[in-house]
Amino acid sequence: MDAQGSLISFTLNGQPVRTHVAPHQSLIEVLQGLGLQGPRESCGQGLCGCCTVSVDDKMVSSCLYIAALADGTQIKTVEGLASGEQLSDVQQAFVECGAFQCGFCTSGFVMMATDLLERCPKPSEEQIRDHLSGNLCRCATYPEIFKAVKLVASKRGAPGA
Ligand code: FES
Ligand code: FES
Repeated sequence: MDAQGSLISFTLNGQPVRTHVAPHQSLIEVLQGLGLQGPRESCGQGLCGCCTVSVDDKMVSSCLYIAALADGTQIKTVEGLASGEQLSDVQQAFVECGAFQCGFCTSGFVMMATDLLERCPKPSEEQIRDHLSGNLCRCATYPEIFKAVKLVASKRGAPGA
């Protein structure tokens, strides 16, 4: 990288991307510049979780992640969870439970809930609260969000699921 930045390559929701990034650019800026609208920037300080994306299977606050460091990584955003028109079960549960109002925080919660359920298929209430504790919802839809996570856990655990 020089003062003008660098050319980086990564995989975004399964598609190869090659783009120029400036040294100061955050990953969220680059993702939004590529046309993504799922990850949102709110606090810009790593405090709210609205900008959460997965980089090499680790959830990160993309507002704090220097885009140049994403070179060679696999990035997944909320846009990558659905299969075509088919929502993921976590996305569907958020809809069924009404787990959002304005929706600004939703992609971050969906990403973290997806991560939790992959690591811990039957999370306790405490584990759900702990895993989602870095995500803030100004509309206070926490009860519905927790309900959505539990709904996915119960559906996945159901016979024949
Ligand atoms: S915008 Fe990144 S954590 Fe709030
Ligand atoms: S639904 Fe509005 S901030 Fe969470």
